[in-house]
Amino acid sequence: MKRRSREADAKAIAHHYDVSNEFYALFLDPLMVYTCAYYRDPDGKLEQAQRDKLDLVCRKLELQPGETLLDVGCGWGSLSIWAAQHYGVRAHGVTLSQAQAVYAAERIRKEGLEDRCRVEHLDYRDLPASARYQKIAAVGVIEHVGIPNYPAFFGGVRARLEDGGLYLNHGIVHEFHWTRTSQTEFLYRHVFPNGDLAGLSQTLTEIERAGFEIVDVEGLRLHYARTCRQWVERLRERADEARAVAGERTYRTWLLYLTCSVVAFEDGSIGLYQVLSRKHGDPAVGRAPRTREHLYEREA
Ligand SMILES: C[S@@+](CC[C@H](N)C(=O)[O-])C[C@H]1O[C@@H](n2cnc3c(N)ncnc32)[C@H](O)[C@@H]1O
Repeated sequence: MKRRSREADAKAIAHHYDVSNEFYALFLDPLMVYTCAYYRDPDGKLEQAQRDKLDLVCRKLELQPGETLLDVGCGWGSLSIWAAQHYGVRAHGVTLSQAQAVYAAERIRKEGLEDRCRVEHLDYRDLPASARYQKIAAVGVIEHVGIPNYPAFFGGVRARLEDGGLYLNHGIVHEFHWTRTSQTEFLYRHVFPNGDLAGLSQTLTEIERAGFEIVDVEGLRLHYARTCRQWVERLRERADEARAVAGERTYRTWLLYLTCSVVAFEDGSIGLYQVLSRKHGDPAVGRAPRTREHLYEREA
């Protein structure tokens, strides 16, 4: 088990994200989504697949105009902005990366969304205890939390949800019999200091233990393999610019980490699950959709 502190977490996030916004812009889609895309077309393009992923998350959360959404670990603000723009929610994103928060604030201003979308440079542990939201998403954050901190993390999410509120946890897990390898040592040392993966069953247990009903679980492993493959292709196409922005060492390290990720998602040693859960305690839950059909309509 790794020793963790807020300072170590902040340093680890800075190590990964302060490589610069320009560097990530070279290989991410224009919305700067830095998590698994959703390929409705298995040969589809990254840009469309990331928009479809954002819709998938918003639809799973059944977002309605005027609702409040907390986007824990919001990255460059893609989900917060999308949800405010297309679903009319009041979105609040928090990220531990200063560079991401500055970038997101600028995008929110340019899109004219300041009245209903806000991104803060804030550790989720510093959210006010009194803050309450109708919906909460944590997309690609659990990997940074640390397994010993799962009870506090899921408990904190639950405390900030209104009764009956939905929580979507989107994260990487390792397969049940996984053990550490030189590949994972490389990742923890050079790419994700403080990274920590659990198995799916352990994650579900901790979510249940925190007081949620699990509503839906979906595996998106092969979607993440394709996402990483497309990131690799895009980064290689912009190799000269990447070297100029971040240096040879970072360029090669990121290329290797993304390539290892393609292999790991393809061979199944790691996976990606979206887990939708509901805080107990609202009788209106009886109106919840009985099927998944609402997720797949073309127009929101
Ligand atoms: C892989 S990125 C995902 C970003 C975004 N959700 C997306 O889908 O593009 C992980 C995010 O978690 C954030 N994060 C990690 N630990 C955090 C913490 N303690 N408090 C707030 N944000 C945190 C990072 O700053 C980063 O924005």
